[in-house]
Amino acid sequence: MIIIENKNLQTKPTDYKQLGFGKVFTDYMIMSKYQDGKWQEIVIQPFQNLSLHPAATCLHYAQEVFEGLKAYRGDDGVIRLFRHRDNIKRLNESCRRMCIPEVDEDALEKAIIEIIKLEASWIFEDEDTALYIRPAIFGTGNELGVHPSKEYILCVILSPVAKYYQNKEDYVKIKIEEHFHRVGKLGTGTAKTGGNYASSLLSSVIAEEEGFDQVCWLDAETSKYIEEVGSMNIFFVIKGVLITPMLNTSILDGITRRSIITLAKQMGISVEERKVSIDEVFAAAQCGELTEVFGSGTAAVISKVGMLKKAEQEIILPRLKDGVADILLSQLKGIQYGRIHEDYGWITTIQE
Ligand code: COI
Repeated sequence: MIIIENKNLQTKPTDYKQLGFGKVFTDYMIMSKYQDGKWQEIVIQPFQNLSLHPAATCLHYAQEVFEGLKAYRGDDGVIRLFRHRDNIKRLNESCRRMCIPEVDEDALEKAIIEIIKLEASWIFEDEDTALYIRPAIFGTGNELGVHPSKEYILCVILSPVAKYYQNKEDYVKIKIEEHFHRVGKLGTGTAKTGGNYASSLLSSVIAEEEGFDQVCWLDAETSKYIEEVGSMNIFFVIKGVLITPMLNTSILDGITRRSIITLAKQMGISVEERKVSIDEVFAAAQCGELTEVFGSGTAAVISKVGMLKKAEQEIILPRLKDGVADILLSQLKGIQYGRIHEDYGWITTIQE
């Protein structure tokens, strides 16, 4: 690994509440190029713009994958990286789906740990902030034929972030999307690839204009079963049971989703991973059995849902304090910020 020093370091923000999500970037980035059939040595270099050929495959045919993981500064000042090996593994799974050459997981892990050490001062001691780490790989070959690129860039950029949802309330409003699907049944839904997010934009824009924060996607075959929400997996509490759509060929296997399932089971909460129909959710709401809905994701962490709307039908969720979402959030954050010990091997502490 090569490290090129950045001699022009930025002044860091001090008002953490103004960080938002993914608006500020740190001083260094990780770069590697795939050329002549192999990945070149990883370089940590000053953060900079990229230069791409206008025919680059990623620009025309969206041959791209990405990941999102976070490092936290705990109450004890120690930096903790959460389940990063799972993100790196999933990056390669997405690569396989998108015909992108896989990266060396150990080399990428080493580079991520090294850049976090270099950028440690960007990880602030504020409970609602973290350093968001965004690896991305994209085809840069300059041929317009529809084929996998022969050249790629891997880059990892870092952004100090606060809360993902900027609404003043602590609850998100969700619209059940009935006019569009995110992905097809056997499409690319399980891969973390930009195209899945591009296809979600029109629905999101319309939903935002209507006053919602996110849309909830239904399955592309029947439009009956809930899949996921904008940038999150989704959970329901019905009669005290924590229920989430089971993984299939179109749902992202979220790492926060996995963590929530593990923690809930450990805490004695009944968990069901199964098909959840939109009719079941509205019926459960009507007879008072639906008590909580929340989304999960690295960016969104655990975000409570206050309202779900489908055409003219609306569910307003009770604003519980100490509900299942709160208990799980405090457990998850406790682990991420070092207040709670875990035995799953999720945390890697970084020595500055
Ligand atoms: C994440 O939670 O890390 C995501 O990738 C979701 C979104 C910001 C695209």
